Amino acid sequence: MTDQVPPAYRGPQRVLSGVQPSGALHLGNYLGALVKFARLQHEMDTFIFVADLHAITVWQDPALLANQVREITAAYLAAGLDPDKATIFPQSAVPAHAELGWIFNCVARVGWLDRMTQFKEKSGKHKERASVGLYTYPVLQAADILLYKATHVPVGDDQRQHLELTRDIAAKFNHDFDAPDFFPLPDALTQGPGSRIMSLRDGTAKMSKSDPSDNSRLNLLDDEDAIAQKVRKAKTDPEPLPETLDELKGRPEAENLIGIYAALDNRAAAEVLSEFAGQGFGAFKPKLADLAVARLGPVGAQMHRLMADPGEIDAVLAKGAERARAAAAPTLAEVRAKVGFWGA
Ligand code: TRP
Repeated sequence: MTDQVPPAYRGPQRVLSGVQPSGALHLGNYLGALVKFARLQHEMDTFIFVADLHAITVWQDPALLANQVREITAAYLAAGLDPDKATIFPQSAVPAHAELGWIFNCVARVGWLDRMTQFKEKSGKHKERASVGLYTYPVLQAADILLYKATHVPVGDDQRQHLELTRDIAAKFNHDFDAPDFFPLPDALTQGPGSRIMSLRDGTAKMSKSDPSDNSRLNLLDDEDAIAQKVRKAKTDPEPLPETLDELKGRPEAENLIGIYAALDNRAAAEVLSEFAGQGFGAFKPKLADLAVARLGPVGAQMHRLMADPGEIDAVLAKGAERARAAAAPTLAEVRAKVGFWGA
């Protein structure tokens, strides 16, 4: 991969991120992604999309896909994204993503993609049977980001490599087409409260929609009883809670529950610990259950309300798609001209 060169880019700062409409959203997505997006919309021009083009790199039931897109949108709105502030749209409604993705397929090198660990994990033992789209998935992701000349990309740690590839594609395009500051070299924003929400059954594994145990995660659409139950059943250890964060090391489940409490309550983990120091989980868990129900209950309720009458969601997506198409058009026009296409 190319070394990070100091960016000459002087354009405006922009946030962009997306979530795939495949599978139910959980607390990890909520705190690690959606709440972060909602916070960033007050700081910078923000584009948040539903990655349906990425979702179809593995089979999606056509009868369900559009509703899955609506469900992610409902979660965005319930987490506080404001369609008047942020541009919220379905990726497939902006054809420029696919167009720029093709051009980037011709910029990226096979050697770069061969190093992508996510493709190796997702394609498993039978990579010859994976879709070609799954292989070029990170190239489309680069197009998503650079189409809007985004500078800041809030994502999980697992996406770092894709952001490095995005910078490599941007740098090579800028170099090949003699336009040193055309594309920015965007940064991944991976830190922040809620960026490491672990399974409730195993404090060393990330909370994940693919974990076979539903008790390992708090889903945004779980009802209040399920949320409280799952917190009560969460794995812990027999020791009381310590005074300091240092003493939590080596106790991954305890560390995770304190981290969840802190993130849900917008407080520092150290502060939460000092409140509960010396108490056992018998005392702590009911408090965490109450807090989780108080924070997540209304999110699930609003998602159910929005999904029951999707007109509002569809209006948000239609307006966002129009804004996104308008924002994407100048970049794509310039790219077409740089590449030398007829009529550009
Ligand atoms: N690959 C991302 C994920 O699975 C989703 C995604 C697609 C994305 N395109 C993006 C995230 C562009 C940030 C920017 O989480």
